Amino acid sequence: MSDIRLENLTKTYGHTHAVEAVTLKIEEGEFYALLGPSGCGKSTTLRMVAGFVMPSMGRIWIGGQDVTPLPPEKRDIGIVFQNYAIFPHMNVAENIAFGLKLRKQSRAQIETSVKAALDQVGLTGFGDRYQRNLSGGQQQRVALARVLVTKPRILLLDEPLSALDKALREEMKFWIKNLQQELGITTIYVTHDQDEALTMSDRIGVMRAGHVEQSGTPREIYEEPATLFVTSFIGQSNVLDVTCLEAGEGRATVRLADTVLKAGLRHRVPVGAGAKLVIRPENVLMGAEAEATGVPLLEARVLGETYQGAMLRYRLDVAGQELVAERQNQMHLACWEPGATVKIGWTPERARLLPAG
Ligand SMILES: Nc1ncnc2c1ncn2[C@@H]1O[C@H](COP(=O)(O)OP(=O)(O)OP(=O)(O)O)[C@@H](O)[C@H]1O
Ligand SMILES: [Mg+2]
Repeated sequence: MSDIRLENLTKTYGHTHAVEAVTLKIEEGEFYALLGPSGCGKSTTLRMVAGFVMPSMGRIWIGGQDVTPLPPEKRDIGIVFQNYAIFPHMNVAENIAFGLKLRKQSRAQIETSVKAALDQVGLTGFGDRYQRNLSGGQQQRVALARVLVTKPRILLLDEPLSALDKALREEMKFWIKNLQQELGITTIYVTHDQDEALTMSDRIGVMRAGHVEQSGTPREIYEEPATLFVTSFIGQSNVLDVTCLEAGEGRATVRLADTVLKAGLRHRVPVGAGAKLVIRPENVLMGAEAEATGVPLLEARVLGETYQGAMLRYRLDVAGQELVAERQNQMHLACWEPGATVKIGWTPERARLLPAG
């Protein structure tokens, strides 16, 4: 059993609340990302799970066992950090064997395990190489092999790709995810990169100032952001000022300019008061596409167009509020010049209403 349960996990340094009352359940075999801006408490949370940082309050359970008082070496955890943590004075095989030697395994055993670990990370035949002769991606693979060779119950990764260039990061992202799935190892992955979190994770916990603000699948986080912070941190969103006319049953009716619209609702929003309507640029329909859906339409003025190859982005003005619409660059679709007016709209399921505060 290797599920992880964090209960009210808290860490304060003097007046700094690095992590505040984080309660989470991570299922066995799950790939869980902790995503958030710099300083929000991701690494501190991970280090508490690993046992390197003592919590000020709260408990950590792994596989049903309370590990809070245990030192790191008794927790059966593998951790890989952002900076390549491989020893430059040892070759790759010696690096990987390091943890096994500490465990006093026999030479034959170690040799077999090291070979298997090298195969696992796609570095068969690299045993004799030194750090200086390895690319950044290969070094991170060695760091992973060194951890996996000890067969940990839990894998903790703290921004393992952030030192790599973009192309390598893309490649390693899928590679790590595949390896994790193959091994079925419960994994917590710390990142501030939303693309990494969205593409790799089974679930994501979005952190802000020591709290987990929302925990859910990538689809839930992207399509049903619970707060304005999550909305703004994950992808791009239009956030429009509207008046809430009616709210209940997961649905709300709002007024934007002079148009009455429907939107999805998750939190209580006071009727009659101002609220924020959140809509992703790719969900703003323009012209004939908008008209064909039969939804209430708004009149927008085109402020500008940006050509992005596969996509076109329009900056629009609706009654003094700016929003962005993004559409596929396809030949059969109409285009608009700056200054043109165009009807826009969206299906109510794609819009969400959040409290203004
Ligand atoms: N040993 C420490 N002593 C004092 N304050 C600390 C210590 N470690 C972390 N902090 C503070 O706790 C907060 C959370 O830090 P943490 O390293 O967990 O953030 P993070 O989300 O990992 O950020 P980053 O993305 O920059 O790595 C920060 O304000 C940080 O300055
Ligand atoms: Mg960190």
